Amino acid sequence: MREKKTLKKQDLKGIPNISKLIGNTPIVPLKKITSGIPAKIFAKLEMYNPAGSLKDRLANALIENAEQSGQLKPGGTVIEVTSGNTGIAVAMVCAIKGYHALLVMSDKNSQEKQNMMKLYGAELVLTPHTVQPDDPRSNYSVAEMLVKKTPNSIYLNQYDNPANIDCHYRTTGPEIWEQTGGDIECVVAGAGTGGTISGIGRYLKQKKPSIKIIAIDSQGSMLSHYFRTGEIIKAKHYEVEGIGSDKLIKAMDFSAIDDMIAISDKESFLTTRKIAQLEGIFCGGSSGAVLAGAIQAVEKYKITGNVVIIFADSGNRYLSKLYSDKWMEDKGYI
Ligand SMILES: Cc1ncc(COP(=O)(O)O)c(C=O)c1O
Repeated sequence: MREKKTLKKQDLKGIPNISKLIGNTPIVPLKKITSGIPAKIFAKLEMYNPAGSLKDRLANALIENAEQSGQLKPGGTVIEVTSGNTGIAVAMVCAIKGYHALLVMSDKNSQEKQNMMKLYGAELVLTPHTVQPDDPRSNYSVAEMLVKKTPNSIYLNQYDNPANIDCHYRTTGPEIWEQTGGDIECVVAGAGTGGTISGIGRYLKQKKPSIKIIAIDSQGSMLSHYFRTGEIIKAKHYEVEGIGSDKLIKAMDFSAIDDMIAISDKESFLTTRKIAQLEGIFCGGSSGAVLAGAIQAVEKYKITGNVVIIFADSGNRYLSKLYSDKWMEDKGYI
């Protein structure tokens, strides 16, 4: 018979709030989907953060910094531009701390993400995805206008805020080092703002300069073209959410990475669906791009050791998109 467990008083303390569960995400080895590949690939599952993505780390750090510097005052409004995950994370942290979250997002991003921001109590402004970054209707311009007209507000600006790289330098990088015991040859992560891969790269290259740091871009974005040629081009439309960029941003430190690989929408989505079917991991579309890019990197750099790849978020925010057969057929991917 199982022993009956009585709760003691100290068992009831719990943690102060859910933001204390941010970070320390698990890594799991991929098996079937990587069979025949000489390297061993481990996925770091960032969907295990409380609001479901790697951006919880960033939102918490940016808001704590703004509080400590005195810029964010009680009852204040936190304004941010997002492709969804940062907005969801900011909305969660604001819900805990009692701030108003005012989020600006392109209408290309999923309905699920919009719903999640609102369920945490945030206010959402949608912008057209067809406009260029300097257009007054763009994400960036709308956020700047909102900051000017909203009293007691701050603009977190993940794109240019040094705390973006720093939070991954302080948390994600050291976690990877500890989880692999330093026995690691390569890390692969998507680049949206670039903060994740730049912070991980800066930390791990200090620990082991030979480590290969690979950033994954989306075909159509301007980042990988700039990395290869130094030339700034106009971005084209792409469907994958969270990675790629239409402009250069300070959170992308190109000196912290060795290579940048661009993956198509179709390959990203088909690989993501395969990850669920072969590994039982339900992740977002950027994770498929990251795995596809990691497999290319293993071949290109003849990697035979351990590789850690970052799965940024969960599939449940893309049910109406890449996990919908109809959507995939309409877009011509299947
Ligand atoms: C799904 C997804 N993958 C990857 C990233 C890339 O993260 P970063 O902005 O740190 O480059 C993001 C960023 O929003 C994301 O939402």
